[in-house]
Amino acid sequence: MIGCLIDSPAMPSNIRPMPHRYQDSRHWFPELPHTRQRHFLASTQQGMHIDVKGKQLLNFSSNDYLGLRTHPNVKDAAIKTIEASGFGSGASRLVCGDHPHMHQLEAELATWKGYESCLMLGSGVLANLGLIQALSDRHTHVFSDKLNHASLVDGARLSGAKNHRFNHLDMPMLAQLLANNPAQKRMIVSDGVFSMDGDCADIARLLNLAEEHQTLLLIDDAHGIGCLGHQYKGLTSQFGGHEHLVEVGTFGKAFGGYGAFILGTHELLEGLRQRMRTMIYSTALPAAIPAAMLASLSLIQTGTLQPTLHENIQTFLQHSQGLPLIASQTAIQPLLIGTDTDALVASQALRDAGFFVPAIRPPTVREDTARLRITLSAAHRHQDIEQLSTVLKSVCL
Ligand SMILES: Cc1ncc(COP(=O)(O)O)c(C=O)c1O
Repeated sequence: MIGCLIDSPAMPSNIRPMPHRYQDSRHWFPELPHTRQRHFLASTQQGMHIDVKGKQLLNFSSNDYLGLRTHPNVKDAAIKTIEASGFGSGASRLVCGDHPHMHQLEAELATWKGYESCLMLGSGVLANLGLIQALSDRHTHVFSDKLNHASLVDGARLSGAKNHRFNHLDMPMLAQLLANNPAQKRMIVSDGVFSMDGDCADIARLLNLAEEHQTLLLIDDAHGIGCLGHQYKGLTSQFGGHEHLVEVGTFGKAFGGYGAFILGTHELLEGLRQRMRTMIYSTALPAAIPAAMLASLSLIQTGTLQPTLHENIQTFLQHSQGLPLIASQTAIQPLLIGTDTDALVASQALRDAGFFVPAIRPPTVREDTARLRITLSAAHRHQDIEQLSTVLKSVCL
């Protein structure tokens, strides 16, 4: 059975399994191999440890790059807001789910990143789907890097725009595609830091192409903001507020929270407030989230945690020489394995040795490039990283 919930509770005795084909996964997903098991892994996290089935493992799979998920300032801000005004927002922002904390966070993010305006959204997926859909119709042409995050891919598909995909980081190919499509409404779309490879888009070259071909450039820097660039403002740190640039960031990574934001001009974002369906028709985030993310933003702005993250990345790279790592200087360090089976075996061997590094397999990555996606955090200790490298060498070499 596909999606077998290995760790889920047994089916209640009063429920009979339904043989009906409308609930048979093979009816709906005939293309999926039936041996494939994907399941939720019941776990609890404490700092950089994860408890899986009663076993404490060191977690090298979280996007909590600065350890802010558990920072006392972040937790206190959320708790105080919940105590003052409850948890759920109750409705979408345009109805009654809006909150002054959201406006304060939007204003602070816009100023910090150098843009005129900012709009908070429920998640990065909602931001990307809604943004591309709001800006596109069937006359729009979207030019996307082939390794873009799934939400950018789906946003372009669902928008009804005409899609053009360029090979990963291939600027001459993008230039050629743009030259061949002199349409009025065009948009280049790219991850900043690529989520499964950990490498980076060349923002300066993308912006040059956007200027030369008079297009909009959408950068999703979910993994860069807070960690990289001048004052850790992300890969676009030198270009905030550029007239061709619109940017998406998320709170689920370096900020240690949940949710997302879009940055651009007043005019563009005002249009999104009128048109963006994933904002208009979705329940607003609980006010505790912007409250906590204001605390995260202050901590990010102090710049005190990021040097530890970068030291940790260098420690990992020094101790992991000889391993088949995909070249990356970011917190995302993918170790290429190849087949799905080999990646699962390697992941299990790491688990047995006390480390949690899940296997990432197709369709998340290309066929035969299954990998271990190792993520580093400022909250890891040097000795944890050194031990991980030692175990990786015994498992993968
Ligand atoms: C580049 C990128 N964009 C968007 C998202 C989705 O963000 P969220 O988890 O807030 O939906 C992710 C998620 O991991 C991502 O890696």
